[in-house]
Amino acid sequence: MTPGSASPLPSDQADLPDIVDRKAEHIRINLDEDVAAKGVTTGFERYRFVHRALPEIDLESVSLETSFLGRRLDAPLLFSCMTGGTPRARQINRTLAAAAQRHRVAMGLGSCRVLLEHPEVLATFAVRDLCPNVPLLANLGAVQLNMGVGPAACRRIVDLLEADALVLHLNPLQEALQPEGDTRFAGLLGRIEALCASLEVPVVVKEVGWGIAPDLVAALFDAGVAAVDIAGAGGTSWSEVERHRIADPVRARVAAAFADWGLPTADTIRLAREVAPRGTLIASGGIRSGVDVAMAIALGADLAASAGSMLRAADEGEETLDAAVDEITDTLRIAMFCAGARDVGGLFRDASLVERRGGVAGPGAVLTGAPLARRPVPRQADVTGGTP
Ligand SMILES: Cc1cc2nc3c(=O)[nH]c(=O)nc-3n(C[C@H](O)[C@H](O)[C@H](O)COP(=O)(O)O)c2cc1C
Repeated sequence: MTPGSASPLPSDQADLPDIVDRKAEHIRINLDEDVAAKGVTTGFERYRFVHRALPEIDLESVSLETSFLGRRLDAPLLFSCMTGGTPRARQINRTLAAAAQRHRVAMGLGSCRVLLEHPEVLATFAVRDLCPNVPLLANLGAVQLNMGVGPAACRRIVDLLEADALVLHLNPLQEALQPEGDTRFAGLLGRIEALCASLEVPVVVKEVGWGIAPDLVAALFDAGVAAVDIAGAGGTSWSEVERHRIADPVRARVAAAFADWGLPTADTIRLAREVAPRGTLIASGGIRSGVDVAMAIALGADLAASAGSMLRAADEGEETLDAAVDEITDTLRIAMFCAGARDVGGLFRDASLVERRGGVAGPGAVLTGAPLARRPVPRQADVTGGTP
């Protein structure tokens, strides 16, 4: 069953711009084609938790609770920013939002740029009625800040959607591969900094699956960004998605050359945490299971986000999506129990990881006591300072 609508859908989408067609194609391609990264993996397979045969915790006392943007979450999960603008996108957003409320996890919306020129598509994004208590994230390409979109327009998007934060996505490779892409990325860091200073809600910055290197993570926090989603490689590859949209065989080969591009999620989150010991970090890019979530947090993330796998579940409907989220949280809870972590913070603080060498867990590689697994600096769980 699809959750009901807060406001009517636009009756005629014929006048809507190419961006709407593109969003429709992106959903179709992600659901129907092989868009996985090739030749690069998340890197999670290179780690193994040190199993605690005597965890000295009761399974039922393991807590998955955390907070983000001043709101309590029942699990450290985010439905990553995906879609909006079309009737199918509306249905997916509403299915995801209702599930986000039921499971008390955070909810991201896809690029809201179309809303600025076509406010009639608001109903395809507006989900606050379905998820009143969870962090809701609006989304915009950072490059739009170089294309005339300023703080007032960002504010309008946030207000229209009653969002808790604005997420800016960095996607230079995707834009470069799109025939209609916006590739004027010069001077963007300064514009992000100016936006952080003038917007009333926190600004989050994410990639879309190629990772954010540690020097940029540090620069973004210096610029005033509230959280960074490193969105590493190993999951959905947006060069592969764009390849499926390209008719010209030469340009399609150009896109194919990037199937293994990017910084693996596991390494990227680990390096980001080293340079930003207190910043709120989100791990995404190929996160599929509760063990992936546990590992991402043990490597340094505060939250984990998934896009492609949640899209496929949401497209099948509410029951499939509920089952997918339950599977992740059940697995995460058991992983925490067997890794000796009684709460989310304990995954980083108390659990230890072994780095596998050549695919096998080598005895000399236990990382106990190393900065990776145990860090003395207490982190601020929620940069926005809200109480759960
Ligand atoms: C259908 C679809 C549409 C997406 N659209 C957006 C978008 O509008 N804005 C954005 O920041 N990221 C977008 N993404 C990227 C995801 O948020 C995420 O960064 C990326 O897919 C990697 O995560 P995954 O491996 O779990 O899919 C989209 C992903 C999917 C699957």
